[in-house]
Amino acid sequence: MKERVRIGIVGAGWAGRTHAKHYQKLPWVDIVAWADVVPGLAKAAADELGVLADVYLDYRDMYEKADLDAVSVCTYNMGHRAPAVDALELGKPVLLEKPMAATLEDAQAIMRAADQSRAFLMVGFQPYFSAEQKAAREIVATGTLGEIYYAETVAHRRWGIPGGNFVRKASAGAGSLVDIGVYAIHAALTIMGNSQPVSVSAIAGNHLAKNFVGTQPAFGGPWKAEDVEVEEFASGFVRFANGAALIVKSAWASNIDSMGRTFFLGTKAGLALDPLEVYINQQIGSLNMTASPKNLRPVEDWPEKIRAFAQAVRDGGPTPIPPHWAYLVNVIMDGMLRSAAVGYEVKVSAEYS
Ligand SMILES: NC(=O)c1ccc[n+]([C@@H]2O[C@H](COP(=O)([O-])OP(=O)(O)OC[C@H]3O[C@@H](n4cnc5c(N)ncnc54)[C@H](O)[C@@H]3O)[C@@H](O)[C@H]2O)c1
Repeated sequence: MKERVRIGIVGAGWAGRTHAKHYQKLPWVDIVAWADVVPGLAKAAADELGVLADVYLDYRDMYEKADLDAVSVCTYNMGHRAPAVDALELGKPVLLEKPMAATLEDAQAIMRAADQSRAFLMVGFQPYFSAEQKAAREIVATGTLGEIYYAETVAHRRWGIPGGNFVRKASAGAGSLVDIGVYAIHAALTIMGNSQPVSVSAIAGNHLAKNFVGTQPAFGGPWKAEDVEVEEFASGFVRFANGAALIVKSAWASNIDSMGRTFFLGTKAGLALDPLEVYINQQIGSLNMTASPKNLRPVEDWPEKIRAFAQAVRDGGPTPIPPHWAYLVNVIMDGMLRSAAVGYEVKVSAEYS
């Protein structure tokens, strides 16, 4: 076990700064280096947060010169592959921001590097650490639901197209799916525990953005209709090898207040999130029962994500979240976008070589 953990951060945007803020809460962690391709950005972030890090423009320089125990990769989606693969090849554990990658090809390269590395990879899906998702996984693991044969998972905004790097294909790779749909898919997969998606049928589009008139302020930057190069909405039907199915709904914008909850139907019980509830039909006489846990203590998922990673680095692993799930998220997203483009169901595979 290490006494202290020396971290380098790649990317000084919102995510990089947020990693830094949570590392700063851990007295046994030092942020010793920070890189961003935009001149002055890493220095400005370090100064703003009072981080005494050496700053770099090129992360490869940072990997070569700084004495690092681990790396946080917080570049925009299309920039995940190179800094993640290079760190893993150097044997440095990586906390990679979600999604694993913008494209399946990049995700496969990252998985290959992780498989061959002596270091571990964690993809930073912080809701995995929420009390609700943890309890849901535990309930499913006890067999309470029986066999899960159907689920729906939802990431919904009524009007929240983020603009900036998020809506440009060159930086984001895709739209609402890689931004927020990924959380919904990751939650569903980790709760279902199902690892063999075999086919996907989906639609995707940006019906509201492309008809928007004027300039919309947004947290990623103001956007106009012509700026939005990626999908604001996607919905897909995923089949698994065991016959189960998952519906994915992901919207940055939609003319409705809700697209439903995330839920799982099992042969013995059903489970819904937000809030966590378990539904059982007529197991006792003619009673239908609904149970909601009363002792779920809220967990702040962001600090927990950073703590879990840093602690695994300190203790020599293993990864707090197996990257397999994040990889499957990429498999499903890729299937959804391919299916939406061709207009019919496509095959997907969890295999890579
Ligand atoms: N987990 C979460 O809640 C959460 C929230 C927001 C963003 N994210 C993820 O974090 C990542 C970054 O998002 P953001 O909002 O900070 O984006 P951003 O565009 O604000 O910041 C990314 C930064 O990376 C820098 N960069 C790009 N390529 C680089 C390279 N090769 N070397 C060094 N720096 C490089 C850019 O200059 C930019 O400053 C994305 O993958 C996003 O999906 C996660």
